[in-house]
Amino acid sequence: MTDTGPSSARPAPPGCPAHADAVRLAGLGYQQTPAQLYRALRREHGAVAPVLLDGDVPAWLVLGYAEVTYVTSHDELFARDSRRWNQWENIPPDWPLLPYVGYQPSVLFTEGEEHRRRAGVITEALECVDQFELTRDCHLIADRLIASFAGSGQAELMSGYVHALPAQAVVQMCGMPASGADTQQLVDDLRISLDAAEGDDPVAAYERVGERLRQLVKDKRVGPGPDVTSRMVLHPAGLSDEEIVQDLISVISAAQQPTANWICNTLRLLLTDERFAVNVSGGRLSVGEALNEALWLDTPTQNFIGRWAVRDTQLGGRLIRAGDCLVLGLAAANTDPQIWPDSHVGAENAAHLSFSNGEHRCPYPAPLLADVMARTAVETLLERLPDLVLAVEPEELTWRPSIWMRGLTSLPVRFTPVVQ
Ligand code: HEM
Repeated sequence: MTDTGPSSARPAPPGCPAHADAVRLAGLGYQQTPAQLYRALRREHGAVAPVLLDGDVPAWLVLGYAEVTYVTSHDELFARDSRRWNQWENIPPDWPLLPYVGYQPSVLFTEGEEHRRRAGVITEALECVDQFELTRDCHLIADRLIASFAGSGQAELMSGYVHALPAQAVVQMCGMPASGADTQQLVDDLRISLDAAEGDDPVAAYERVGERLRQLVKDKRVGPGPDVTSRMVLHPAGLSDEEIVQDLISVISAAQQPTANWICNTLRLLLTDERFAVNVSGGRLSVGEALNEALWLDTPTQNFIGRWAVRDTQLGGRLIRAGDCLVLGLAAANTDPQIWPDSHVGAENAAHLSFSNGEHRCPYPAPLLADVMARTAVETLLERLPDLVLAVEPEELTWRPSIWMRGLTSLPVRFTPVVQ
């Protein structure tokens, strides 16, 4: 049984899914100039490229705007439950992508009615977040963070500001204090569990996250407050404590990294691109334009893993087998020459796929809340430190070695010291 997705010039390769011509999805090209690489991949392989993930595990990278839109809007063909993957026998227990792909009983991996129930609770809980209050909270967090380095005239913004602000804002939104050792431990553990560095123990970190959030849910059952966790606890859908814990982990981690990298990539654009350089400080319009342009050109979630084919089908002229894994090439789709034939990529509309699309897309109103956090972070920084400039040459900035998240390893800046 086959269905036909959006067309592509290339026929299905024989012998699929052996992926004889597969491209290894790793290497420096993805970190420094991925746009060129995606263009080359598209030229070479069409809109759906056979790729090899870590350990040479085969998958498909969906590069076309039309194809990503098709995949994400056809859940009956391309679904989220990774247990249907036909490669599990080739996956070692320490496979680095396991934290993203290994099935968890969270909203991320649910399908159909169960997904609507879980995602519905998250949407309604997030809808109650007052955007004015969130702006005020982000201002306060920003001020506190800036005060810690303003006197020195220099800072490394990734650790001192960019990651810290959305992390603190999100845990506060979920009903924990924004700062304090306990919150910091949770934020550190989330980072370790998803993005472990040398010497970290991601499994132990993930267990500590679970324990902390289990305690939070228990506390909110006894004494609910005006926060996301309490609204999930009180929701008539009647989620169990364990379901809420799983979905809180999804909400907090889905919010923190992408929002931080959105702030990073916007600041980089503002500080390196002369179109913005003339009038960034307090320039509301310019900041808005930079935020949108960053989503088009340097989207935080470059590639998202993924979807799993429910049955044999066709996509972009490729034969996709039941259980094949598809990586959503969100960055490639945003810069697809089919939608930007004259190679101009427009910041003037919001039709990018940075928040994905379809049933499992980043749930409304999360993109609005992310916008509040990112906008407040950027504007507050530029208001407080109006002569902020890069402390290195733009070409010295390096991207993180990740094909999934696009963000800088560090963002060193200098400015006139502020006497408190
Ligand atoms: C307040 C901030 C945010 C929250 C609370 C949030 C929450 C979530 C949640 C709960 C999901 C899982 C949806 C599901 O499987 O049904 C999700 C998915 C996603 N989010 Fe967000 N998110 C936030 C910010 C962002 C940002 C800034 C970006 C990128 C610019 C982003 C991009 C995505 C993408 C690409 C997905 C995957 C959707 C898919 O499977 O197709 N999110 N988000």
